[in-house]
Amino acid sequence: MNRWSSRSELTEWCYLEGRAKAMKQRHLREFTDDHERAQSLSFRAGPIHLDLVKQKIDPPVFNGLIQLAQACGMQQAIEDMMSGQPLNNTEGRPALHTALRLPASQTLELNGQNIVPIIHQSLRKMRQIVSRIHSRQWRGMSGRAITDVVNIGVGGSDLGPFMAAYALDEYASANAAALHIHFVSSIDGSQLSALLPKLNPETTLFILSSKSFTTLDTLSNANTALHWMMRRGKRERILAHHFIGISASSSKMTDWGIPLANQIDFWDWVGGRFSMWSAIGLPIALQIGMRQFETMLAGAHFMDQHFKNTPLDKNLPVLLGLTGVWNASFMDTHAHSVLPYDGRLKFLPSYLSQLEMESNGKSVDKLGHAIDYNTCPVLWGEIGPNAQHAFYQLLHQGTQSVSCDFISPIKRYQSGVYREENIELQRQHQLGLANCLAQSRVLMLGDAVIDVDESTPGFKRYRGNQASSTILLDELDPFSLGALLALYEHKVFVMSVIWDINPFDQWGVELGKKIADGMLGVLQGQAADDMDASTQQLLKEIQKNQPVKDAEHERMCTR
Ligand code: F6P
Repeated sequence: MNRWSSRSELTEWCYLEGRAKAMKQRHLREFTDDHERAQSLSFRAGPIHLDLVKQKIDPPVFNGLIQLAQACGMQQAIEDMMSGQPLNNTEGRPALHTALRLPASQTLELNGQNIVPIIHQSLRKMRQIVSRIHSRQWRGMSGRAITDVVNIGVGGSDLGPFMAAYALDEYASANAAALHIHFVSSIDGSQLSALLPKLNPETTLFILSSKSFTTLDTLSNANTALHWMMRRGKRERILAHHFIGISASSSKMTDWGIPLANQIDFWDWVGGRFSMWSAIGLPIALQIGMRQFETMLAGAHFMDQHFKNTPLDKNLPVLLGLTGVWNASFMDTHAHSVLPYDGRLKFLPSYLSQLEMESNGKSVDKLGHAIDYNTCPVLWGEIGPNAQHAFYQLLHQGTQSVSCDFISPIKRYQSGVYREENIELQRQHQLGLANCLAQSRVLMLGDAVIDVDESTPGFKRYRGNQASSTILLDELDPFSLGALLALYEHKVFVMSVIWDINPFDQWGVELGKKIADGMLGVLQGQAADDMDASTQQLLKEIQKNQPVKDAEHERMCTR
């Protein structure tokens, strides 16, 4: 039997380790005037321009990374993912989010069945629901049209739809003008308790979004919403008029009480954090209309095709992923910040923190062997200009090495709802762009961009040498957002291929869920003798101030 060998034993890996040692001695400043290098590290696919010029990458590193990708079988891995091979080996299933964006004319066989027709059937059901709500034909039980839709979900069943509906609000369908869309996720009920008093139960529709339909966070919010509604009518009528379910488990939706007509299915071969392209995207479609939702799918499909058909050295997701691997595994950069210079992308960092960290926050390879290199960095972010007044201090003068993604549209306030010339807002966009370029420049070059000398005190010095990528979109619209999100999905996959890990499972979060179930019993009075000292003490503190056992609550959580 062959001895198991780690990625770090590959010749290509060792070569890059050597290059990294040398590169760590160099400053990004050295690359300032190299225009040839600048040209060779700028790439484009459709509406997206990717600039890697401010990364610590020279031609030998670039070629070394491409060779590493080849040695790890990148091209075959891409083909395997898109053709439905069971790459999610710990759960024995494929990861076919790319299939959700396939045009109806294409075919994709899974276990001998063409799955494209069922995907489009689900899109048709979404279209019908969107059309009934927009045309005010979907009525509440008292006959009044729906004015408020509340999406109840968490993680992948919340972050993607929330982020995209917010980002594309300017593209809102005229038919959605009288519709308010809300998102509720937190298990403690704070979002729901603040929202319910503002809603009219007669005109409110709840969407229960949960791939598994077992997530306690979602079910506890759903139960609270149902109890709130039940003061106003009979359970069956409420469920028929005010609840839609979206899940991969029709039987669990039925058990909960969602009538078949109000269920939209998706499939276990779509990972939760990759699911916004399925019916989980219903709130996006309600916000921008089904046609624009499909334009977003087309943008993602465009990026899928680019990913599949473009040589590795010109392939945007491959290059963004390899750059991420270079920083995390070779250059000892363990933090990554996503910095959109467009307020509409406010929730992109939270969405990407799940996409990247839940996918690649792993320390064993696909066969379960411990790996001996660093994987996913800690990822966080915020609207860039706002973050300049918050955590950029650490980026500029702290002790940590942090890589950044600067993201901005080139054009803004020139189309859509801004058809009228709006000079002030266009100027504000110029200001945003100027800040975006200025910050990445200072992070690269440090105080070489200003006049400093020996007498300049240390607190006025800027080290620079922080690597960043810049992603420019021609403009932010449903097509380019779809392409951008698919770019990041595939970046995550590329990194997982190099790291030899399964990006499609999340066993790390499963244990916490199980333990929480047991802890609820303890909070409600079961013995806590086998708990650790810290937890026992915290329990005592809580029970001292909250001694009453709530039977009704217990009943709801265990139903
Ligand atoms: O927290 C883990 C997780 O399973 C995520 O992967 C998922 O997106 C989220 O919970 C919600 O799961 P579900 O859609 O099944 O409710």
